[in-house]
Amino acid sequence: MVLESISRIIKMQLPAYLKKLPIPEKIGDFARLTVSEWLRLLPLLGILALLGYLTIRPFLPKKNKQRDSLINLKIQKENPRVMNEIDIEDLRTPSVCYCRCWRSKTFPVCDKSHLKHNELTGDNVGPLVLKKKTI
Ligand code: FES
Repeated sequence: MVLESISRIIKMQLPAYLKKLPIPEKIGDFARLTVSEWLRLLPLLGILALLGYLTIRPFLPKKNKQRDSLINLKIQKENPRVMNEIDIEDLRTPSVCYCRCWRSKTFPVCDKSHLKHNELTGDNVGPLVLKKKTI
């Protein structure tokens, strides 16, 4: 049933539609077409433009990945300025990583969210690593 309809459209209705189109024989004749003739040509021209676009689309340059204009997207947005103060004497482990990408869920401590951010954006941010000297 469906194939029969498609077959009828392609074999009978499409050729009849194309036959009725006012396609000029010379380029210059396009200028002489009336508005109603242009309107009759519009669906065909639209389909040809779409097919042309789909054909060349794989060869068009890819857009750059979306880059954030804001650095801090969600951390303490209620504050006009986010500042963290850490006393070096309070460091209990030999090394601590502090976030510089502003994507950490444990901010200001790095939770390695920068890895996903770098992968998505092509960025190269990483943590600030504070190390205690062992004497
Ligand atoms: Fe931000 Fe690691 S999570 S630098």
